[in-house]
Amino acid sequence: MKRKLWKNRFLLVAANVFILTFTVTPLLADDVDTCVGCHEKSTPGQVADWRVSKHAEEDVSCVDCHGDSHMSAEDARLAQLPDEHVCQDCHEEQFDSFAKGKHNFGWTSLNAMPITHVEPDELMEGGRGCGGCHNMGIKTEAQKKEQLEKGYRYQTNSCDECHTRHSFSKKEAQDPRACQQCHMGYDHPQWEMWSSAKHGTRWFAKEAGRLPEGAAVPTCQTCHLPNGTHENRTAWGFLGVRLPLPEDKQWAADRVTILKALGVLNPDTGEPTDRLALITSVDMVRTTEEAWQTERDKMIKTCSQCHSETYATTQLEMGDSMLQKADRVLAQAIEIVAELYKDGIIEKPEAYAFAYPDFLHFMQTGGGDIGKLSSIDQTLFELYMKHRMRTYQGQFHVNPDYAYWYGWAMMTQGLGKIQAEAKKMRTLHELTKN
Ligand code: HEC
Ligand code: HEC
Ligand code: HEC
Ligand code: HEC
Ligand code: HEC
Ligand code: HEC
Ligand code: HEC
Ligand code: HEC
Repeated sequence: MKRKLWKNRFLLVAANVFILTFTVTPLLADDVDTCVGCHEKSTPGQVADWRVSKHAEEDVSCVDCHGDSHMSAEDARLAQLPDEHVCQDCHEEQFDSFAKGKHNFGWTSLNAMPITHVEPDELMEGGRGCGGCHNMGIKTEAQKKEQLEKGYRYQTNSCDECHTRHSFSKKEAQDPRACQQCHMGYDHPQWEMWSSAKHGTRWFAKEAGRLPEGAAVPTCQTCHLPNGTHENRTAWGFLGVRLPLPEDKQWAADRVTILKALGVLNPDTGEPTDRLALITSVDMVRTTEEAWQTERDKMIKTCSQCHSETYATTQLEMGDSMLQKADRVLAQAIEIVAELYKDGIIEKPEAYAFAYPDFLHFMQTGGGDIGKLSSIDQTLFELYMKHRMRTYQGQFHVNPDYAYWYGWAMMTQGLGKIQAEAKKMRTLHELTKN
């Protein structure tokens, strides 16, 4: 850190000497010729935010992060937009642990999805929609270049997702609300689940001063970023699948069905496809029992700060067995729709590799050809992406309502709908055939 500070100090001093020599006006803090002086007028809110930061206190200023190539309103595009490596210069430890965690895969895993390439750029590189939340992870030079070529200049830094610029506050990032913007909504309502369950409601009571300062309350950070680490990873992850397959025969068979619908196994031969390598390269699934167990053990250790180990283990094992039950329902639903493909009742969309449901096309089932969306595929996708997620995520986040009404109950309802619709489709197919 010292070296970098020194370098910038030197440049600043050199610049001052230059200005002193050639304009004979001393450089004042509010001079419009300085970053702060001019931005105090052009973007006062930003400067105010920086002024309350630890950075301002420690003389880490605009130039340290943005360089000094831009000095007037006309050449603003010369200002450097700092990526994570700029923070790394002074915060090696946080950078390194962030780089090892799942957040570092946010951008890459988004772009690994076939759907990404048929959706509007505004919802990807533009930083809304998928790209609004998946702007997590250190971008490669190639990824940055692609973004620039499409005309998008911002979204170059993920550290400011939890420590918002320009106050870059530690306290803000320790607040569970720092996770809310992304961990909410359709397929991962962790915010809603946590905040309305026992752990979260106690946090709010404590915030309001109705519980003593020392009362024990777990936040997202307590369980997922313990002891200041920036490396995050859970045992099951988002997809709720892992390798090797479970020992239970039925569960293993259901898993195979799900992996086919994820396009990871060839539905005809059962052999792994290229997608398996893709998914493991972005750490989407734990590929060994040990890797899974390591994360589980860490979590139980965290729970054990406040609960008995047996209690915690029992709670998490219930999550595992709900996942198994959810997989049974999902596999049945997939098989019904897969039969419709097999019998030619649903046509294989061109963008699909196989005549089989493909979850990685998300709501764009049909591969982006909006005219070809099949309604039963949409119901199946929702059963997977919304209701199966809620069933096990709700169990793990100790939320009664999400686990049952928004999760399990909706899964069983979805299976019923799929059974009825498949029947209708078959009848209609028979009628129109003759
Ligand atoms: C004379 C006034 C002035 C000075 C001096 C100045 N800026 Fe700016 N800067 C501006 C204005 C005005 C804009 C906004 C241009 C626009 O609206 O697109 C801007 C934009 C920026 C941007 C955003 C660029 C973007 O792509 O949106 C950054 C970052 C920035 N300035 C940093 C700095 C730093 C660092 C310094 C000192 C090295 C500095 N500025 C000095 C006036 C100034
Ligand atoms: C600790 C590093 C750091 C410091 C110090 C810093 N910035 Fe920034 N600034 C950033 C980051 C990170 C971004 C976001 C870049 C992106 O998303 O592409 C940013 C973005 C900007 C932008 C463009 C986005 C917007 O919201 O308009 C402007 C303008 C800007 N900074 C001005 C300043 C000024 C003026 C100062 C000094 C008062 C300053 N910055 C100090 C890190 C810093
Ligand atoms: C030139 C060195 C330097 C750079 C570059 C820098 N920082 Fe800092 N940062 C510091 C210093 C010094 C402190 C105060 C001492 C400390 O807490 O480590 C600090 C403190 C912080 C804190 C803790 C604030 C608090 O409330 O306690 C955060 C968070 C932070 N920086 C984030 C960032 C991010 C994100 C970037 C990149 C956009 C960045 N820093 C770039 C030097 C730097
Ligand atoms: C509201 C924020 C948000 C939006 C919008 C969003 N995601 Fe996500 N996405 C997340 C979060 C948070 C996770 C991790 C969730 C979890 O593990 O429960 C995630 C997980 C994923 C994963 C799994 C990554 C892994 O390693 O397990 C993929 C793939 C993905 N999203 C793709 C997309 C695509 C494609 C879109 C747009 C169609 C999208 N996301 C929209 C926040 C978002
Ligand atoms: C997912 C949210 C999140 C992201 C993204 C994030 N941080 Fe943090 N950061 C935290 C939390 C939470 C803390 C407080 C840890 C604690 O309680 O000790 C923290 C603390 C810090 C601190 C203060 C350390 C100390 O103890 O004084 C620095 C510096 C920091 N982060 C830098 C970074 C940098 C650099 C990046 C990007 C590589 C980054 N953070 C990205 C959540 C985040
Ligand atoms: C009391 C501890 C605890 C708290 C508090 C907590 N979680 Fe979790 N979280 C878990 C457990 C346990 C799992 C499942 C781990 C596994 O796969 O074995 C999990 C899983 C996750 C996952 C992966 C997908 C899933 O939902 O199963 C994400 C993402 C996540 N949590 C985010 C959050 C966010 C964001 C918050 C705060 C709003 C939060 N968690 C609060 C314990 C916690
Ligand atoms: C800007 C959006 C954003 C914010 C803010 C954010 N996350 Fe995430 N988080 C994501 C995305 C996107 C992923 C999935 C990354 C991937 O593709 O692998 C993710 C993944 C995770 C995972 C890994 C789940 C798994 O698959 O094992 C955990 C745990 C997590 N986040 C916790 C947190 C916590 C705790 C906070 C707040 C301190 C937070 N996140 C803030 C977007 C965000
Ligand atoms: C920082 C302390 C803390 C941590 C860590 C923590 N809890 Fe809790 N938990 C509490 C408190 C306090 C309560 C409310 C009193 C009680 O029921 O024990 C609670 C309640 C619960 C409940 C009962 C919920 C209800 O609706 O009655 C379950 C189940 C639970 N926790 C599971 C877990 C699991 C699993 C973990 C780890 C993934 C965990 N907790 C981590 C403090 C914690």
